[in-house]
Amino acid sequence: MLEVQKIHTFYGLSHILFDVSLTVEGGQVVCLLGRNGAGKTTTLKSIMGLAPPKKGKILFKGEPVSGKPPYLLCRKGIGFVPDDRRIFADLTVFENLEIALRKRNGQDQWDIPRVFELFPPLKKYSTRKGGLLSGGEQKMLAIARALVGNPECLLLDEPTEGLAPAMVQIFRDRIRLLKRSGLTVLLAEQNVKFTLNLSDYGYIIDDGRICYQGTVAEIQENDDIRKICGI
Ligand SMILES: Nc1ncnc2c1ncn2[C@@H]1O[C@H](COP(=O)(O)OP(=O)(O)O)[C@@H](O)[C@H]1O
Ligand SMILES: [Mg+2]
Repeated sequence: MLEVQKIHTFYGLSHILFDVSLTVEGGQVVCLLGRNGAGKTTTLKSIMGLAPPKKGKILFKGEPVSGKPPYLLCRKGIGFVPDDRRIFADLTVFENLEIALRKRNGQDQWDIPRVFELFPPLKKYSTRKGGLLSGGEQKMLAIARALVGNPECLLLDEPTEGLAPAMVQIFRDRIRLLKRSGLTVLLAEQNVKFTLNLSDYGYIIDDGRICYQGTVAEIQENDDIRKICGI
């Protein structure tokens, strides 16, 4: 579904990603693990067209998409949940979702009632302004907003960052449900434990380079690589 081939991404003159390659098959959850500043967000932004790579290729469903603007990638079926959530603070929960609604051909459509079922607190607070939600609820809203756009592939940036352990468990369950519904997910995380049993495959990124790949169980067992990469 998604293929990143040897990309190099810069912010101005700073060379951030070096030769990053990864593959996400349809229906898989693939995680990109790495410490703070390793290049996870930059990889997702490169895919989404927010930080277009200078070199390398990105293919979505076989079609080259590098250099395309974010709105086109969204239309083609890639959803993005940024780590800083970017919800509209002055709009209600319902309005935040309403503006993101997009139908796509095929069954199993996401709509507002369905995301309310996935995240019941959003239903409870549907008339509350987005800015008044707790951090965890804002994360729910950010995921729900991406889902109602009916993406085929979801880029999820650090969903557990700053969450209490009970909340982390809820997100793990919900991402499992999304996987069961057939959604393809690329999950950027620092938390190896969270991604364990959730991901089909994992990549470790450090200093802008992919330094290891394997199943999450293999990553979990490989103490050396985890120590070197700080996760
Ligand atoms: N907008 C930016 N301009 C310049 N450098 C940036 C910018 N955003 C991130 N960086 C740098 O790029 C590197 C990778 O950051 P990032 O992709 O956010 O890492 P991660 O998501 O793994 O924490 C870091 O060294 C960070 O300081
Ligand atoms: Mg990040």
